[in-house]
Amino acid sequence: MMIFLDSADINEIEELAATGLIDGVTTNPSLAAASGMSFQELITQITKLVSGPVSAEVTGLDAATMITQGRKLAKIANNVTVKVPLTFEGLKACKALSNEDILVNVTLCFSLNQALLAAKAGATFISPFVGRLDDCGADGMQLIEDIVNVYEKHEFETLVLAASIRHPQHVYEAARIGADVVTIPGKVFRQL
Ligand code: E4P
Repeated sequence: MMIFLDSADINEIEELAATGLIDGVTTNPSLAAASGMSFQELITQITKLVSGPVSAEVTGLDAATMITQGRKLAKIANNVTVKVPLTFEGLKACKALSNEDILVNVTLCFSLNQALLAAKAGATFISPFVGRLDDCGADGMQLIEDIVNVYEKHEFETLVLAASIRHPQHVYEAARIGADVVTIPGKVFRQL
């Protein structure tokens, strides 16, 4: 199972990447805003610290804007993974970008049917939000398990990336179920 760092803190990424145990990084607009750097510069720096996939999220709301932003982000480095939201427009953008062999992480997944559509749209990664589901009384890990099983049954190649991870027990469960990746804050990485 791969471990990604869910962070846009350059110092933290540099320090934890030095362990040799970090396989990639996911960022999101909130984390990026907190970094105080321009988005382009931030992603450039992270891709120099980590050779695995680095997720950089688009901010457009329509597919055409997401595709334009995604193409630009993908030019930063070979390991940039364009992150698009699991909306109707995001799925269209995913299909177009993945057709161009650009890595795509479809984020904000809250159901099995959404994950099914993302896989059909050629997503490299699907990011179900475990903690956010738990927050509203749903069972985030059950969704991970359902997606892992359905992807396996139908031989989809999309990798299941357990996101919105809040504590080590989430990592334990994601590993037990067979998620391909967990993306975790630096704090949780240390807690492991
Ligand atoms: C994943 O790529 C996201 O950055 C992240 O896991 C968001 O989760 P949170 O907003 O619930 O912390």
